[in-house]
Amino acid sequence: MFEKNVSHTKWMKRAIFLASLGKNTTSPNPRVGAVILDKNGNLISEGFHYKSGMPHAEAMAFNNLKKDAKGGSMYVNLEPCCHQGKTPPCVDKVISSGITKVYISIQDPDKRVSGKGIKLLKEAGIQVHLGLCKKESLNLNKAFIHRNINRKAFGVLKWAMSIDGRIALRNGKSKWITNEESRSLVHSLRAEFDAIIIGGNTLRKDNPLLTTRGLKKPEPLRVVFTKSLDLPSKSNLWDCSNAKTIVIYDSSKANETYLKRIPKCVEVEKVSSDNPELISKILAKRGCNKVLWECGPGLATAAIKTNCIQEIITFIAPKILGGENSMNPFGDFEFREMNEIIKLSDPQVRLMGSDICIKSAFQN
Ligand SMILES: NC(=O)c1ccc[n+]([C@@H]2O[C@H](COP(=O)([O-])OP(=O)(O)OC[C@H]3O[C@@H](n4cnc5c(N)ncnc54)[C@H](OP(=O)(O)O)[C@@H]3O)[C@@H](O)[C@H]2O)c1
Ligand SMILES: [Zn+2]
Repeated sequence: MFEKNVSHTKWMKRAIFLASLGKNTTSPNPRVGAVILDKNGNLISEGFHYKSGMPHAEAMAFNNLKKDAKGGSMYVNLEPCCHQGKTPPCVDKVISSGITKVYISIQDPDKRVSGKGIKLLKEAGIQVHLGLCKKESLNLNKAFIHRNINRKAFGVLKWAMSIDGRIALRNGKSKWITNEESRSLVHSLRAEFDAIIIGGNTLRKDNPLLTTRGLKKPEPLRVVFTKSLDLPSKSNLWDCSNAKTIVIYDSSKANETYLKRIPKCVEVEKVSSDNPELISKILAKRGCNKVLWECGPGLATAAIKTNCIQEIITFIAPKILGGENSMNPFGDFEFREMNEIIKLSDPQVRLMGSDICIKSAFQN
């Protein structure tokens, strides 16, 4: 084990900070930052991965080098890659640079790398230290890790409700439960996601835009999951000039004659059942690390039951909708005992003017 002194932590935290600059743009790739010190411990370069197809963090750091890295050290929050992807392997660059120590926070879960990058560095005589700031690095890349391990996208479910736990009136009207501040936070939150999912009924009732209002380019992919395919021929989601839309339908139940209502610019894909896991897998395969479920109770309940949700974001407004038939965020989970209920962890609470925003994680 290496000494966990303050400066090692400081440089790894710097690498993690640099990695976080690619927060909204690296998918399907991970968020990675790298720092290079010379043999005397002075900072001589740094870099981060911005986007797939652009240099990896290590490569950017080597491109930015101000001095010879020979005998120096590197801090990187994820194991350097050793495979030829869109860009050449970073491990080769580290070895040829003459760097003698590499501090890596966590292994890459990608099977093409996973431990092999570290092995190659060690075989080249480089001292490799693994595990510095592990918790922070796991957190930063939790969606990327989740997708690689489970072959499913990391799902966050978001809903807005009144203080009496209602998300819409019995007639489906829900505009607006929360205040402007909360709604504009939702626009910027969406920028962290690769796709936004709703069910067919939310499309029919709300006709949403599901965009970041230009904060992210390209906008996240908009996904509609429908069993019936009974979608309107006019919809904001059918305008693909600012954001792409995909309709995924359950071919065992849908009436395919409705397909003609969907314009050509919208992608259409069929699946064999109404299991939301299929959506999560399709999106993972398309390179979506993190997806936002903005659906109503029907799909939200099914998504939770099939482990598609890893975190929730709830907006609570000081308003009362009342009514036994007003809509709840969820349908029945059929819990009969209190030890069966869903318990959430790590709540983070934020005041949005008069609204409250709570972010919490699932314990699965
Ligand atoms: N306040 C909020 O935060 C918020 C957020 C979202 C929605 N809402 C409100 O919620 C209402 C819609 O609720 P909803 O439950 O009908 O939501 P939804 O988001 O439309 O989800 C249900 C729909 O998803 C499709 N679906 C596909 N697979 C499914 C599955 N396994 N289980 C259930 N549905 C599946 C079906 O579409 P097809 O019917 O097309 O087959 C179904 O009707 C609207 O009034 C909307 O305003 C409120
Ligand atoms: Zn690389």
